This record gives sequence, C-alpha cells and structure tokens, in this order.
Amino acid sequence: MPVDLVLSNAKIYTREGVVEAGLAIDNQRISRIAKETNLPQASAKLDLQGCTVLPGLIDMHVHLRDQQLAYKEDFFTGTSAAAAGGVTLTVDMPNNKPVTMSPKSLRERMKIAEKRIIVNAAFYSAFPRKLPELPSIVDEGAVGFKLFLSHRIGGLDIEDDDMLLKAFKRVKGTNAPVTVHAEDRETLENTKKEIKKAGRNDLNAHLEVHSPEAEIKAMRRIVQLVKESRVRAHFCHVSSAAGLGVFLAARKMGVSVSCEVTPHHMLLTQDHLRWCRNLALVNPPLRTGMNVEALWNAITRKSIDVIASDHGPHTIEEKEAESIWNVAPGIPGLETTLPLLLTKVNEGRLALPDLVRMTSEKPAEILCLKDRGSLDEGYFGDLVVVDMNREHKIDASRFLSKAKYSPFDGWEVKGMPTKTFVNGQLVMDDGEIVTEPGTGQIVP
Ligand code: DOR
Ligand code: ZN
Repeated sequence: MPVDLVLSNAKIYTREGVVEAGLAIDNQRISRIAKETNLPQASAKLDLQGCTVLPGLIDMHVHLRDQQLAYKEDFFTGTSAAAAGGVTLTVDMPNNKPVTMSPKSLRERMKIAEKRIIVNAAFYSAFPRKLPELPSIVDEGAVGFKLFLSHRIGGLDIEDDDMLLKAFKRVKGTNAPVTVHAEDRETLENTKKEIKKAGRNDLNAHLEVHSPEAEIKAMRRIVQLVKESRVRAHFCHVSSAAGLGVFLAARKMGVSVSCEVTPHHMLLTQDHLRWCRNLALVNPPLRTGMNVEALWNAITRKSIDVIASDHGPHTIEEKEAESIWNVAPGIPGLETTLPLLLTKVNEGRLALPDLVRMTSEKPAEILCLKDRGSLDEGYFGDLVVVDMNREHKIDASRFLSKAKYSPFDGWEVKGMPTKTFVNGQLVMDDGEIVTEPGTGQIVP
C-alpha cells in the first residue's frame, strides 16, 4: 500500500540536526525520514525544492476569543492566522466570555472550536470556583490552568495565599502546569489610583503602573507557592531583567518553574510604544533597551524555555480608545512570530536549534503533548516548510486574523513559512488557507 504523501528534496530539521532528505506521511503521522531512494511509494508527492522543514510551532500563549468575543477573533480566523504563521497548535487562554473555568464551559468551547479550527488546538482553564472540580477539568481535556495575578479571572480569590496554595496542591495532583500572568494586582491598583488622581492620561502612565516591581512581586509570590506545593509553574511573558532574575534564581534552587518570552518583548522597546502608540500597548508592557538585552542574553545562554506570541487580538476601536485607561492591551502575534524569528536566525542572532527548542520542543514537553513538537518517525505530521531566503514586508492589513494592525507593520523580514501541514494535511500554501474549517484537532 502506498503511503499518503511524500515530501521530497528538503532540508529536514531532526533532533540529529538538519538532514537533506525526504519525509513520508501516512495516516496523519510521519512514517519515514530518509533519502529519496529509501522512501516508500506514495499516493501524492511534493517537491519542496530545497526548502527547510521545521516542526510546526506550538504557540502556548494564544487568545483565540470566539463565543461572545468573536467580534475580536474567532476560532476560524485565529487558527487561519496560526496556519499562515507556521503554527500547528495553538493553546488557548481562558479569559473569554464566558470565562473557561469549569468542565461545562470548557466542553462548550471545545464543541464550537471542533468545527471551525484550521490547526490543532489545546485549551487552558482558569481556576474553578469549586476546587474539587479541578481534576474533571483536566479529564475534559484542559492542558493547564492559567492564573492571572493582575486581576481576578476565574474562581480563585487571588489575594488569598492559602487558597492559592490549596489550589496549587490540587493541580499538582493532576500533573498539569499552572501558567501565570505575573503582575501584582495590589501594586498595579495602588499606583494606578495615585497616577489617575494626578489626572494623567499618557502612555508613560501605563508604563509606570505596569512596573517591573509589579512583575517581580508577583513572581516571588509564585515561587514561594511553588516551593510549598511542588506544582509545575510556567511564567508567561517575562518582560524585565528583574523578573528574569527572580526566575533564574528560582530555577537555580531547583524550583519547578519554566519561563516564556514574547517576540514583542524581544524586539520592541518603550520607544516603539511612543511610535506605534496604543497599537503597541500590552501587558506586561514594552520595556527599556536594557531589559530587552537581558532577555536576549538569557536566550543566548539557553535559559529561556519558550517563545510564545501572546496573540491578543482586539478591534481597532478598542485599541484607539481616547483614554489610556480604556485601551485594550494586546498585540496580535500569530502571523509575525515565525518570520521575525527566522529573520533573527538569518542575522545570526538566534540559532535555529534554539528557535525550534523554544517554539516546538519545550512547549510540547511542558504541556505533555504526546507525539508532537519534533520531526520524528511516529510523530504527528505537524510541520512548517520555510523558505529561509524569502524576503517579505509585513503588511498587517493582509493578516488573516481579524486584528489587522501590528507594531511590526512595515518591517522587512527574511525567512517565511510557505506551507503548513497539520496532522499530515496541507492547510496553508503560500499564505492561503487550502482546507476546510474543522481540519484541526482538539489536543489531547
Ligand atoms: O496584553 C494583554 N492582553 N495582557 C493580558 O493579560 C491579556 C491579553 C488579552 O487578552 O488580550
Ligand atoms: Zn495573554
């Protein structure tokens, strides 16, 4: 019997390095990686003309919205954007309407997603109101629990350390990780009150409220709770040198923590906030060049586990609110992450193995996603074909996301995803979606 598909004439990124070979796909999975003559007969064949094949990105920080927030993004547009960006699995955040925080709300969300997704999707839940419900949320399919310390989302009183500890111990029993938005609510609120009283309504006011101090205070609190509960915790979007310091010290002590950075914190500074104004407003915010350098040093030293987009789509009206206090924070990132990172690879700033480790291998490991995250025989055929030499100018007006703006709009990149395969099926070809809604699967 011939296999479903053979991709030939490629540079394939395997754990042993890049090999010039072909790749056979059968029944959704990679059945063989070998020189052309050693590949099986196939029903379909595609010559990749020397392009590079990488594991599809697993973006473990995505806000797909839909339901009552579908006006910002929905499962189809969000996962189309993912496919265009070489992302084969999105992990969805729970700050939805309704909030994902119970077996029922998760089930409903999955049911809607199932028919509309282009790439694979996994889901986080917020903490439920009743902690005994926690294991059933995992049984329902959640891959982790998201905790916002900046404002309450979900069932937990975030001021109550005893409650948090109890909750963490419960999560520990499920082996799922807790992923944390680390900004201390009290610090944010107190500073905000003062600054608002002074009548401020400028971009600096936002930066002053969302200070590195707010980040490290929340991170220190989590480290303490992780030590006591022994749960696995993942710090989302670490943005400051100080925050990084807290993470690195904890890791050195053997605390079970991992960390993530975003392309916008790696590539933009507060100056971009002044140039792009509200479009670059995000939480945690863009920082100074010194902080950006610290993130890059950590990347070079292989201390960062994950790069994720924190794709946070809003409408342009929500981004352009008159008062700084009403601007919706968030930057759409699914379509820019890989081109921006490949550009850094081409510039010699980022090593390709580090890119693959942070965008595919580590997310799969942290979220315990079986048979995904690298190109191995037996693994799912989740892969992205990239043309390392293709030059492109980012044009946000052509995004497949509903959020057609970006602080990276107009940037010249070198290195583009040209084809995306999900479970062995071609879903994106030269920027176009070539499959039906519902092609992606819900994972696990
Ligand atoms: O900038 C942000 N956007 N920070 C968050 O914590 C939420 C996110 C969103 O949902 O858009
Ligand atoms: Zn987020």
